[in-house]
Amino acid sequence: MHEAFWQERWAREQIGFHQDQVNAYLLRHWSMLGISQGQQVLVPLCGKSLDLAWLARQGHAVLGVELAEKAVQAFFHEQRLQPQVRENGAFRVYTAGAFALWCGDFFALSAEDVAGCQAFYDRAALIALPVAMRERYAAHLRSILPASCQGLLITLQYDQSKMDGPPFSVSDVEVRERFSQGWKVCEVQREDVLAGEWKFIRHDLRALDEVVYHLRSE
Ligand SMILES: C[S@@+](CC[C@H](N)C(=O)[O-])C[C@H]1O[C@@H](n2cnc3c(N)ncnc32)[C@H](O)[C@@H]1O
Repeated sequence: MHEAFWQERWAREQIGFHQDQVNAYLLRHWSMLGISQGQQVLVPLCGKSLDLAWLARQGHAVLGVELAEKAVQAFFHEQRLQPQVRENGAFRVYTAGAFALWCGDFFALSAEDVAGCQAFYDRAALIALPVAMRERYAAHLRSILPASCQGLLITLQYDQSKMDGPPFSVSDVEVRERFSQGWKVCEVQREDVLAGEWKFIRHDLRALDEVVYHLRSE
């Protein structure tokens, strides 16, 4: 997906991926990671997700990365925070309280930028990307995150021949392949959520699995 695609989605407010509640899998599984208060969490492709605010309420410093400035500004506006803004290389960084939202391309993020992160949270980031970019995304994540790190990853699985992404279907085999280098991958929950998803039902899908993984660096 090119930058223009996402900028247009935000400009037209075609943001059906945005959830107006904190993600239920995050609420249920985050404690499994055992990340202490004060530790920093990377949230790639973060949008204006309420999950950022929930992570901050758990006592974490939150480093989000998002292409669309509209999303970043909306996040702070909705949280009633007045951010400080500074330029940092390829990024414009918005900070307030526990939040640092880096507005720019995730692939421009360096190991130095995320050196303080002990964990990452991916909801609708990997599955937002077409296959070639997913490979690049997983490789980049591993290359920049500190050697000792954990992650919570939420994916979708459905019959990709029936509809185009995003969100893309990412099979279990692909997740294990993408994160084969340096990660131990453990599936922690799988739910067929098709019944509540009219957008997917009309594509004649038979199943729509949300799958949650815990990743630990090895
Ligand atoms: C499907 S949305 C998910 C947003 C968020 N994770 C959530 O759960 O609401 C994907 C987001 O990634 C952003 N994005 C896409 N490519 C990006 C990139 N290369 N770097 C940073 N953000 C990107 C898009 O603008 C969009 O807001």
